[in-house]
Amino acid sequence: MDRAAAEKRIRELTDLINEHNYYYYVLDSPRITDLEFDNLMKELMELEQAFPDLIPPDSPTRRVGGMPAAGFAAVAHLAPMLSLSNAFNDQDLRDFDRRVRGGLPGQPVEYVVELKIDGLAVSLLYENGVMVRGATRGDGEMGEDITRNLKTVNSIPLRLRRPVPLLEVRGEAFMPKKEFLRLNEEREEAGEPTLANPRNAAAGSLRQLDPRITASRALDAFLYGIGRIEGMTVASHMEGLDILKELGLKVNPHIKLLPSIDEVIDYCREWTEKRHDLPYEIDGMVVKVNSLAQQAALGATSKSPRWAIAYKFPAEEAETVVRDIFVRVGRTGVLTPTASLKPVKVAGSTVSSATLHNEDIIRDKDIRIGDHVIIHKAGDVIPEIVRVLPEKRTGAERIFSMPEQCPVCETRVERVEGEVAVRCPNDRCPGREREGLIHFVSRDAMDIEGLGPSVVTALIEAGLVNDAADLYYLKFEDLVKLERMGKKSSENLLNAIEKSKSNSLAQLIFALGIRLVGERAGKILADHFGSMERLKAASVEELTAIPEIGPKMADSIVAYFRDPVNLRLLDRLEAAGVNMVQERAEEGRRPLQGKQFVLTGALSKYTRKEAQELIEKLGGKVSSGVSKNTDYVLAGEDPGSKYDKARALGVPIITEEEFEQMIR
Ligand code: IVH
Repeated sequence: MDRAAAEKRIRELTDLINEHNYYYYVLDSPRITDLEFDNLMKELMELEQAFPDLIPPDSPTRRVGGMPAAGFAAVAHLAPMLSLSNAFNDQDLRDFDRRVRGGLPGQPVEYVVELKIDGLAVSLLYENGVMVRGATRGDGEMGEDITRNLKTVNSIPLRLRRPVPLLEVRGEAFMPKKEFLRLNEEREEAGEPTLANPRNAAAGSLRQLDPRITASRALDAFLYGIGRIEGMTVASHMEGLDILKELGLKVNPHIKLLPSIDEVIDYCREWTEKRHDLPYEIDGMVVKVNSLAQQAALGATSKSPRWAIAYKFPAEEAETVVRDIFVRVGRTGVLTPTASLKPVKVAGSTVSSATLHNEDIIRDKDIRIGDHVIIHKAGDVIPEIVRVLPEKRTGAERIFSMPEQCPVCETRVERVEGEVAVRCPNDRCPGREREGLIHFVSRDAMDIEGLGPSVVTALIEAGLVNDAADLYYLKFEDLVKLERMGKKSSENLLNAIEKSKSNSLAQLIFALGIRLVGERAGKILADHFGSMERLKAASVEELTAIPEIGPKMADSIVAYFRDPVNLRLLDRLEAAGVNMVQERAEEGRRPLQGKQFVLTGALSKYTRKEAQELIEKLGGKVSSGVSKNTDYVLAGEDPGSKYDKARALGVPIITEEEFEQMIR
């Protein structure tokens, strides 16, 4: 391709990818498949590699990459980033309303109520529609330049959908709960200390000197305010938010315009109840006067505006006693100490245990058996001990130390140099295997309904199940014999197991519990390899060539597929009919489900590899030789002996056109 054509195509691809990025990350409604998206990215990367001087500043390939920085430069905000004063109850909100009305005599007042996202305040600067800078809040006047890190956040557009001359916009970058759990699991696994909460995790991720680390964490951002805008006039906060949406920025969907403080209070109460249903954490609500003229009239103190207030949710903490500390072995062998607590009511449920993560945390917080402690519970997250109340000690408290042996199989535990975690090294430890099975069937993995930890344990104890493949060979007669398993629940369970056979390849890869391979990696691997067969054969080099797959994970994957026990498990899963290929058909369409194809001759529209990928994507299989199990032979120009064999066996032979009819 010549230079001019390349330049044009780079521009086209950049716009197209940014557009689809917007549909995917901002609107949450993708318009193309991941495969199509990846192909556009691939094409762009290749062109940029050939013409590096033509890379535009808003190229989506620039989201990731670059070398670690030595430090962050200081940035002066165009207008100070203020913080908010707090309200803790209805009365505080009514007092705020009275002050606002007092400052605006005789005027009607409307309030905008928003969720208070628990993350890190950031400011983004766009010049002529292109993102040129991203910064932390810092002290409100000066922040830190974290442009490269913020560019890795997919929901932050690199180019606005309209080129306003200048926009400085503020918002909150945050880590979704699920990503936080994933990250902590990964850290625990790697023997690194876990992070206390999603806010710390988001802040830590954005203050990484190496933007590749930031990129590896699925951060997100909601924008909630305009610092400065040129080329447009805005009369109200709500109008400002609408403009942000039009420009392609992500605005939280739960924002409400309300005409009175009573309704504001009701809305705050509503979210106090519902807040844990959100996929991200909020620590309160923010109430803002809608009219910008009224905001200006009310003004600000040196710290915070008089036209806004933060309503903070009540804390979800309670005091209790640590009765004992016991150790659980996880599926990867990591031993996790857990506190057994005197049951206590907190945030609407009774709590009787709390995770202690690892020995270091117990030592840092100086938690002893018998201590009075304050626990914190956030929604359905496992409760944690916030701090000890040393003034309540009697002297009878006991210091805990990690056992030298696995509590289940009694193998001597290992402590890896430089890691916090202590592990049971026995891959066949029954405790680890049980946890592995619980993971296999869990919601984000194979999602087998009705198969919770207690049923898994019952199946193991009855000798019916030793590994994941055994699940697929269970019989009705076996199940009904189990305690607490009636006819109906046995049937339901068998149906759920059956249904899980057609789960995606990504789910299966994640379910296997390969060390360091989380849900996201499962998806990346499924997308890249398209089948278990190819993943099995992948080398460390092939794996590390994939962005986001590091050398440690690559080693762990290769080691997994070298273990004959694992290979036998996979064979038995496959024999049972568990899906082993990427079902990435658009909208999950699988018109070729279960069909076996053989390719012969030269196809005109696809290479062999493309044809194979397409067939697998649509649910079919490709094998090399014709047999009586072959459903179709897809024949191109100059077909070989397979054509003759198909005729001899009476296997249908189809042309490319007929194939296309079939998959339409
Ligand atoms: S408005 C002058 N809106 O809360 C107005 N802040 O204590 C400044 N925050 O530093 C902020 N969600 O980090 C606003 N919807 C929201 C918010 C929000 C979270 C954070 C922000 C700010 C802190 C104020």
